[in-house]
Amino acid sequence: MAHLSDENMERARRLVAVYPERRSALIPLCHLAQGQDGWLTPEAMEDIAELVGVTPAEVYGTATFYDMLHTEPVGRHVIAVCTNIACMLEGAYELLEHIEEHLGARVGQTTEDGEFTVEEAECLAGCDAAPCVQVNHRFFGPLDSAGFDRLADDLRAGRLAGEVPRHGVLCRVERSVGLEASSAEGAERRERTS
Ligand code: FES
Repeated sequence: MAHLSDENMERARRLVAVYPERRSALIPLCHLAQGQDGWLTPEAMEDIAELVGVTPAEVYGTATFYDMLHTEPVGRHVIAVCTNIACMLEGAYELLEHIEEHLGARVGQTTEDGEFTVEEAECLAGCDAAPCVQVNHRFFGPLDSAGFDRLADDLRAGRLAGEVPRHGVLCRVERSVGLEASSAEGAERRERTS
C-alpha cells in the first residue's frame, strides 16, 4: 500500500509523464511528498523510488544533497537565518542568537511544540533586506529582535497562514495547462528505460 495519498499518487504519475526519463521527476516528486507530510519520510521515498525506477537509497542520496529537502522531521515553520556578509554586517548573528533564545531551539533543532525549526543559511539572495530570514522559503526582512518576535507570534497564531503555508507546501495552485506530459516520443523512451 502506497504512503502517498491517492490524489498525490495521481499527481505523481502526471509529473513522471512530463519527463522523457522517469528519473528526471525525482526532485519534483520529493517536493510533492514533502508537501504532503512536511518532510520526506522513508515511506514516501520508497514510493518515489518505485515511481521513477531507482532505489530508495538513490532517492535519499539525492534528497540529502539539497537544503530544501528534509529527510528528518521539521517544524511547521522552518526559519532560515542568513548569516552571510550583507546580513552579518547588519546584525545577523545577534538576530540568530536572539531567535535561538526566544524559541528555545538552537540551529538544527525544533521547538518542543513542533512549531519552529531553526536553520542557519548562506546568502538567500535577499541582501537588500538584510538581515533577512526565510520562513518556509518566504522572505522577511530587514528584521530586528522585536520584529522577529512579532513574526513568530503571528506565525504561531496563524495570522500569516495565507502568506506562509506549513512547511513543504511550495505552491498552492497546481498547473493545469502548458506542457503536456505524454508525447508519443517520451512514452516510447520511458518504455525503453523502464
Ligand atoms: S547576505 Fe543575507 S541574503 Fe544575501
